[in-house]
Amino acid sequence: MNYRHAFHAGNHADVLKHITLLAWLDALAKKEAASFVLDTHGGRGLYALDAKAAERTGEGQAGIGRLWSKRGLPAAVQRLCEVVASENPDGQLRLYPGSPRIALAALRPQDRLAACELHPEEAAVLKSNLAADSRAATHARDGYDAVRALLPPKEKRGLVLIDPPYEAQEAEYPRVLQAVKEAMERWPQGGVAVWYPIKQRRTLHGFFREANKLGGRGLLCAELMIRPDDSPLRLNGSGMLLFNPPFQLDAVLAPALPILARMLGETHASQRLEWLRPMP
Ligand SMILES: C[S@@+](CC[C@H](N)C(=O)[O-])C[C@H]1O[C@@H](n2cnc3c(N)ncnc32)[C@H](O)[C@@H]1O
Repeated sequence: MNYRHAFHAGNHADVLKHITLLAWLDALAKKEAASFVLDTHGGRGLYALDAKAAERTGEGQAGIGRLWSKRGLPAAVQRLCEVVASENPDGQLRLYPGSPRIALAALRPQDRLAACELHPEEAAVLKSNLAADSRAATHARDGYDAVRALLPPKEKRGLVLIDPPYEAQEAEYPRVLQAVKEAMERWPQGGVAVWYPIKQRRTLHGFFREANKLGGRGLLCAELMIRPDDSPLRLNGSGMLLFNPPFQLDAVLAPALPILARMLGETHASQRLEWLRPMP
């Protein structure tokens, strides 16, 4: 477990993931019934963009840094910028929230969050970063085991976010797919969002094929490529596989993706929003 998200916080992949997360939770909030969010790989919840790790890569500045003070962006992008602004009340971009705090920004008093983190130091920081919010519980445990332990929740609606570090590269896919399968079997009313890295596209074909077999009410794919998908060495882009997404999530994401490609991408940046299995 060498991966530390602090080097990457706020990069193009986080921006795609967190815009999608907010759009999904805002859609759930349109109905009064309570929602539950299980964040299987929570990270530390809040990242200092002026810390050495973030400054060394500059990824956050090349991601959220290019967006957060702009006006007139599509609503889904603006939404993330507002949440980031609320973490930086003095107007300087110093802190970038991770998925657990982003989820809490969209959840209502009746909703709940369970955030898992396996790395002991990261889990301790996550616990302190969520401590002030009684809707949140931190679990210092394996996020895949938590799918079995914490689902189904008492709430009928909600989302499982699966965002592993893919340190084992393609060996992570079977674990992710097994977790999606178990989540949908245990909690058919819930949705599942999986983040995946894109280096070379051809390595993803088997993953998509297996994901498509998992059933559910619909499977949407949203991708942001900041450069072509032909180098095995760099994170050229990333995607979200969205199982059982809420009504019109695609319509909310559609105007955001081309703007992200333009503002965060290099030459030949691209984006994709596609139903791999349409809603019935
Ligand atoms: C990509 S980061 C998560 C970022 C976070 N979801 C966000 O968007 O802010 C992945 C995290 O998963 C943790 N991790 C690795 N394996 C895990 C496992 N099996 N269960 C739970 N957490 C794990 C890593 O320590 C790392 O903090």
